[in-house]
This record gives sequence, structure tokens and C-alpha cells, in this order.
Amino acid sequence: MALLEIRNLHVALEDGTEIVKGVDLDVDLGSKHAIMGPNGSGKSTLAYALMGHPGYEITEGEIRLDGEDVVELAADERAQRGLFLAFQYPHAIPGVTVTSFLRSAINALRKARAGGEDDPVPIPEFRKELLAAMEHLRVPRELAQRYLNDGFSGGEKKRVEILQMALLKPRIAVLDETDSGLDIDALKVVANGVNSLVGPEMGALVITHYQRILNYITPDHVHVFVDGRIVASGGAELAQTLEAEGYEAFMPAGVGGDGS
Ligand SMILES: Nc1ncnc2c1ncn2[C@@H]1O[C@H](COP(=O)(O)OP(=O)(O)OP(=O)(O)O)[C@@H](O)[C@H]1O
Ligand SMILES: [Mg+2]
Repeated sequence: MALLEIRNLHVALEDGTEIVKGVDLDVDLGSKHAIMGPNGSGKSTLAYALMGHPGYEITEGEIRLDGEDVVELAADERAQRGLFLAFQYPHAIPGVTVTSFLRSAINALRKARAGGEDDPVPIPEFRKELLAAMEHLRVPRELAQRYLNDGFSGGEKKRVEILQMALLKPRIAVLDETDSGLDIDALKVVANGVNSLVGPEMGALVITHYQRILNYITPDHVHVFVDGRIVASGGAELAQTLEAEGYEAFMPAGVGGDGS
């Protein structure tokens, strides 16, 4: 049994339009999965549905985490069970520094895990962990004192997200790499974060339509996602094939897309 098991997952928009049309996927600890697919194929919809975004309705199928079906659980309850979505907090929060945001996020998890009792992380312990993670991920010190995402560049947002992942220590991290504007350094921060955290305690699902990031994260499994479905799966070499040949060969007749 894999830690995250997705079975026959169907996801619809609020108006009933079906976007994800039956996905089966297992993600286990220690493994790096990549989902690649053309624009508009439903990759982000899948990510939002995994996290429990209220705008995306699961009309059929199951999402099991450690054997437990989490479809009925709210986003925070899924997070408590160890699911993490990068881009989960894309908004700026003026007045809340990165440091205090991260501390609150950790404390919310600790509280849930202590059965609802406050169990705040001791400040010296938090500081130590934060500084170590920032150094490891090469996040500039001054970023920690700024208001979350307020005026952050795309690369800075990304760094803070990866920092959040490092501190929250999820069991399954879902990274939706929709931001095409990342420079090589920011890509490396993401890749370095994923590579150093995936192991006996974490598995990752990296969603992208660029092969670029996969030059730095070597996935164990690559899945081709077209029109709401996984249409092919393979090893890292599949990403190279896609880069060279595009999605054309995987497209059902009549489905559009720019093949990027
Ligand atoms: N909240 C929404 N309201 C209306 N349409 C939506 C919504 N969310 C997704 N869609 C539509 O669902 C389809 C799939 O979108 P989605 O963002 O999942 O694609 P994607 O594979 O992530 O694309 P990209 O590679 O460009 O990030 C698109 O046609 C999109 O317009
Ligand atoms: Mg997307």
C-alpha cells in the first residue's frame, strides 16, 4: 500500500464541468513522481483537488492517505495528515512576517497533532530550525523579516514556499510548478529542496509542463497527463522523450493544446 493512493479520481468545477477524468496514482515515501502535460489539461485542478480546495468537487473516486480516505476532509485536516501543496498560500499577507507565518503554521500543525491542545514550538528551537533551513536552502536572512509575499519576486515566493515545506516536513509534497518565470537559481532552490527532503519520510509529486525543472530533480516516475487523464507512465527517460517530441503522440484526436 502506497502512502498516497489516488483511485479513479474525477474532479469537476463548480459549474459541473469535469476536468479530471479518472486518475489512478500511487505516491510513496522516498519516491519522486512528475506529472507533465500540456496547458489546460487539468494538472492544477488535480493538485487543488488533492489539497481539498473548495472550488473543485470530487465527483467520483478516492484519495487515500495512509489507507484513510481524505476526500471528505478539509484542507487543514489533510495538511495535518501530512499533505502539502506548494502555492497553497500565494497571497501576500501584509503585517505578517515570513517568520511569524512559518511559526504559526508549525504551531497549527503541532496543535492538531496534540489533539487540539496548544503545543507551541519553543522559540529557540524554532529559530535554530529556521536558520538551518534558510542556510541550507540559501534563503537570504532579510526575507524572514519581511511581510509574507508582499512585493516578493516570483523566485522569492518560491524560496519561502520551499522553506515552508522544509519546516512543516510533510509526508507527501505536491508542487505545482505553474510559474514559468523562475530563473535557474530559483529552479535549483526548488529542486534542492525536493531532492534533500524526499527520503524515508517524504514523497513528492511535481507537476510541471516544462522538462526544465526535471533536469535538477530526477524523477523516479514520469506520468503524461492529457485531457484529465494519465495516458502514459514511465521512468525519467519519458521526460526526455516529451521534451524532444512534445505531447502530440499522446493527444487523443480532437484535443487541442499547444504541445509545449
Ligand atoms: N476555477 C476555475 N474556473 C473556471 N475554469 C477553471 C477553473 N479551474 C480550472 N479551470 C479550467 O479547467 C481547465 C484545466 O485547468 P488547469 O489549471 O487544471 O490546467 P493545467 O493543466 O494546470 O494548465 P497549465 O499547464 O497551464 O498550468 C482549464 O480549461 C481551465 O480554464
Ligand atoms: Mg496549472
